[in-house]
Amino acid sequence: MSDITNEIKKRRTFAIISHPDAGKTTLTEKFLLYGGAINLAGSVKGRKASRHAVSDWMEIEKERGISVTSSVLQFNYDGYCINILDTPGHQDFSEDTYRTLMAADSAVMVIDGSKGVEAQTIKLFKVCVMRGIPIFTFVNKMDREANDPFELIDEIETVLGIRTCPINWPIGSGKNFKGVYDRQKETITRFYAANNGQKEVDSVEVNLGDANLDDIIGAENHRVLMDEIELLDGASDEFDLERVQAGKLSPVFFGSALTNFGVETFLRHFLDMTTTPLPRNSDVGEISPFCDDFSAFVFKIQANMNKAHRDRIAFMRICSGKFDAGMEVFHVQGNKKIRLSQPQQMMAQERHHVTEAYAGDIIGVFDPGIFSIGDTLCTAKKPFQYEGIPTFAPEHFAKVRQIDTMKRKQFIKGIEQIAQEGAIQIFQEFNTGMEEIIVGVVGVLQFDVLKFRLESEYRVEIRLEPLPYEHIRWIENDDIDVASLSVTSDTKKIKDLKGNPLLIFTHPWSIRTVEERNEGLKLSEFGRN
Ligand code: G4P
Repeated sequence: MSDITNEIKKRRTFAIISHPDAGKTTLTEKFLLYGGAINLAGSVKGRKASRHAVSDWMEIEKERGISVTSSVLQFNYDGYCINILDTPGHQDFSEDTYRTLMAADSAVMVIDGSKGVEAQTIKLFKVCVMRGIPIFTFVNKMDREANDPFELIDEIETVLGIRTCPINWPIGSGKNFKGVYDRQKETITRFYAANNGQKEVDSVEVNLGDANLDDIIGAENHRVLMDEIELLDGASDEFDLERVQAGKLSPVFFGSALTNFGVETFLRHFLDMTTTPLPRNSDVGEISPFCDDFSAFVFKIQANMNKAHRDRIAFMRICSGKFDAGMEVFHVQGNKKIRLSQPQQMMAQERHHVTEAYAGDIIGVFDPGIFSIGDTLCTAKKPFQYEGIPTFAPEHFAKVRQIDTMKRKQFIKGIEQIAQEGAIQIFQEFNTGMEEIIVGVVGVLQFDVLKFRLESEYRVEIRLEPLPYEHIRWIENDDIDVASLSVTSDTKKIKDLKGNPLLIFTHPWSIRTVEERNEGLKLSEFGRN
């Protein structure tokens, strides 16, 4: 096997999806700890107060003490080279969060055991399903009172529509959390709650048939466990790696990230079950990651990461071959050969200059304003283009007006550039031109980012008037007379910059009504690029 093939086979690139507070950061910290990437758990993102110190990213980020950008962490563990893509939550949830999932080969879904499946998880999950990537579930916080595990499993299956296969099973939760049962090994890992604020817990492994099990986990817990094992064996789907890798079956693990219970087992199983870098579709068919030529696509463009330079960083996912610093590549959409300068990679929280990287890795390169989201770079003799990244549905809309009408030109330039980076989407009234601009964003923070950037970079002040719409659908039919579509009173017809027609709705139920009223109308939640 060539060295390049070897390197690519070591790669595992995944995203962690969850609702804020489910424990994504804590779990990531524990993963990094195993990889030896950091010495101290707690320093992944420099959370809360210490965040300012570690981040020189956008001003707004500093002002608010939140992270606007999503990052990539790379570390080595047990012969694997692992890339974790961070998907930001809270107010900084944005289209970038979705796009990051386009660069992942699998997803780890963290669920808070006492809350079950929450809103943000559902949104991110849908994107993973669209891509057909494997999804692994970690039910976290079992050291706290949690919902009944059967109910949790049932909720994942019904709300998310994916079959599940528990790999381990919890014995109690909260004060009565006794550990987990490994269904394959038929062993129990006993959890001992930590004293004195100590965060790592002790654990001991015993066999299911151990004569002392009543003493170890308690007679009642033992009885319940035996019943539950029987129920599980009868009712749950069997483990099937092919279905897991096709994204049809989610292996489920229970544990506690904070106390580091069940984390390493999870990581090991996950690495065994997840895939090496996946092939990607292009206009000349599927491209194998092991193909000799280098290729990559841009999935994120980040403006002004470094305040000293007003420039942009284009993040790209390497899809095939090997990248060497300074190498000349063909930028397909720009129809030009270019040299990728200042390639960077994230190791834990530090940015490093990279000299080489392989399929599966993410690199950030200096962008003098030539890249757009979805662009392909390759060294193949016959250049090709990777499938575009879909446009994700914004959920907040506002009319935007510039305060000083003399600055029309800067205003249009600025707003178009920011839209090109993919931070916002801009639309127009269906029947009029650019005079009325409607901005759509996935997370409301993007409105502030837009306002701030137009002021600081383009010297244009704007006023945003929120609109009541919350749902958007792209019209997929090519041959439809949009003007004559029959819509409800809370629906608005708009178009994007390319002239594609869309509908925005205030109420979700209007979507169905409009579909019913217009036979053959095909609406989509994802826009084509
Ligand atoms: P997020 O990235 O998904 O938003 O969640 P994060 O890891 O920041 O965790 C959210 C809160 O939940 C944190 O508490 C964290 O310590 C706690 N937590 C994470 N995993 C577990 C777990 O397995 N058990 C228990 N009991 N708690 C867990 P916090 O008080 O909000 O933050 P901090 O002061 O601990 O940093």
